[in-house]
Amino acid sequence: METKISKTDFALAAEYIRAGEAVAFHTETVYGLGANAFSDEAVKHIFSLKGRPSDNPLIVHVHRGYDIKPLIDSEPPYAKALREAFLPGPLTMVYPSTGKVSEYVSCGLNTLAIRVPSSVTAQKFLKEVDLPIAAPSANLSKHVSPVTAQHVMEDLCGKIPLILDGGACNGGIESTVLDCTGEVPKILRAGLVTREMIAKVAHGCEFYQKKEGEKPKSPGMSYKHYLPRCKTAFCESAEEAVKIYQAAEGTPYLLCESKTAKELEGFRVLDLGETGEEMAERLYALLHEGEKKATLLIAIQPTRKDGVMAGVLNRLHRAFGVNDGETK
Ligand code: TXA
Ligand code: MG
Repeated sequence: METKISKTDFALAAEYIRAGEAVAFHTETVYGLGANAFSDEAVKHIFSLKGRPSDNPLIVHVHRGYDIKPLIDSEPPYAKALREAFLPGPLTMVYPSTGKVSEYVSCGLNTLAIRVPSSVTAQKFLKEVDLPIAAPSANLSKHVSPVTAQHVMEDLCGKIPLILDGGACNGGIESTVLDCTGEVPKILRAGLVTREMIAKVAHGCEFYQKKEGEKPKSPGMSYKHYLPRCKTAFCESAEEAVKIYQAAEGTPYLLCESKTAKELEGFRVLDLGETGEEMAERLYALLHEGEKKATLLIAIQPTRKDGVMAGVLNRLHRAFGVNDGETK
């Protein structure tokens, strides 16, 4: 099948969705691979396109005016306040489900994850189709998430009919996934809406910690993820990284924050930037660039840890096989 990239084909996208196809679309975080959440076959098609494990649930995306009440069983007052404060935007909220969408969306869980993206392209697409759209990131399972239409092409060319191109994703890492089924909201996946931001509105917010022997609340967090297709190494310090770089054959690259990059003149460096937001925006783009240019990609631990860095460090560590716990 030919894969078309378009900035404006929203009606065509809606036609494909109604016919049970999957369509990739821009969001403010990463590109999504969407299909009709009411259709078992369309949802199963997404899992098969990505090679995604069948117990890793999907997020349902809707436009800002879409009435989510039929999809969710109940909503605590703090969740309403969070919706009003942060949506549309990069916050996914997990509710008790009414089971109206395909059972394959939540992989047998009795909850449903809902997201209202702010991207103009995503909003136009969702409005045109006016259905809940189940959408994981538009990459093959385990690979780095796509932040341009070209990245989607690299993984899914010939497998899907259309990519709705909204340019580069300036959020850069996936949405915050927040469990809204309990008394206090719990972060299942850190992202651009930070714990501090949520706590201010909801009067409290915790990072979810899996208890000994408990099934993970967000199964996707326990898989290998975000892996660039080249050899990688992870270092705590620039000194350690330089030793590995100098001993390496081929074309090694260093991946680090600007502060460290400034000390590494004469080396091949991919500069993540200074602030958490900058590092979020650049991380996947640089992992895509790195896997094409580098024979060995060596990441150096950033020094910043606040705010959005919880999400950035989670993705960076997982991309480089560093185990920093499953859930953050
Ligand atoms: O920014 C994003 O969230 C992007 C764009 C495309 O919207 N989507 C995305 O989807 O990152 P995906 O499939 O790559 O990640 C979905 C995450 C997984 O960690 C999954 O386990 C979690 O959301 N999730 C989905 N439904 C859930 C549920 N009912 N309960 C708990 N976690 C859920
Ligand atoms: Mg993903």
